Amino acid sequence: MLREIVVTGAGRGMGYHFAKQHLEMGDRVFALTRTVTNELKQLDNGGGKLVILQCDIASLGSVQAAAAKILSLADHVDILYNNAGVNAPQDDINVLDAEDIEYFLNVYNINAVGPLRMVRALKTLLKKGSVILNVSSECGSIYEIQLASHKNICGYAMSKAALNMGMRMLANILEGTGVHVFLLEPGWVRTEMAESGIKKAPEAVRLDFEARSVKPEVTVANMIDIALHPKKVPEGHIYVSHQMKLMQW
Ligand SMILES: NC(=O)c1ccc[n+]([C@@H]2O[C@H](COP(=O)([O-])OP(=O)(O)OC[C@H]3O[C@@H](n4cnc5c(N)ncnc54)[C@H](OP(=O)(O)O)[C@@H]3O)[C@@H](O)[C@H]2O)c1
Repeated sequence: MLREIVVTGAGRGMGYHFAKQHLEMGDRVFALTRTVTNELKQLDNGGGKLVILQCDIASLGSVQAAAAKILSLADHVDILYNNAGVNAPQDDINVLDAEDIEYFLNVYNINAVGPLRMVRALKTLLKKGSVILNVSSECGSIYEIQLASHKNICGYAMSKAALNMGMRMLANILEGTGVHVFLLEPGWVRTEMAESGIKKAPEAVRLDFEARSVKPEVTVANMIDIALHPKKVPEGHIYVSHQMKLMQW
């Protein structure tokens, strides 16, 4: 049976690699993207396996329009990658010293509510064995934030912690249906999101990034492996790293 894959934020970064690697496996990919990039268009080999749909996950109307197109073409979804997300450049200042924190609302709308909008819009296509893989972050873990004693990145971290809570609830709701819900920590990934911040960072952080960061195609391959083999994740756990380390909430 044709595998049906949905990826949000497929125009660049990790989303692009989710789309590319699934196309290479012969799957049909619904590549949802706010900005239709040439890079994404070039993945189209004319075989009809790539369906590019413009979609802003911050907008209910936009999500519903993209979902209507998917519903007209597919009778199920095997994997939904809730990948699209934003960081917040203003987050390099702590909440007390920041000029204002109104930008938190936009970050929350995209990172926390957007993935649930997607699930709601596609819920009739989610069947036994379907996987909802959300690209979360170590920053969504209250334990990790405490451990690292972070003082900035508050808007982003709050949005990912809220995503984690929303998806934990979704997993509770879907218990017994055979639909798997995962929150993946992808590592520190060499995409525009991380690299744009690194340019302004102190040298020690830049050196740390050089040493520890992972290529997007590598972490994406690891996450795809988890999505294709959900039973590899120990029972009862849904928040794991791309290398299958169990994450603390
Ligand atoms: N890079 C890291 O180190 C890292 C670490 C932990 C977690 N993550 C998470 O990984 C995911 C992918 O990030 P990335 O590193 O690949 O970053 P990226 O290269 O900046 O890509 C972000 C993608 O999300 C899309 N996007 C943003 N807002 C959107 C919206 N409202 N509607 C639809 N698409 C939207 C962007 O589209 P446009 O081109 O239109 O802006 C872009 O395609 C994000 O959820 C991020 O939080 C990244």
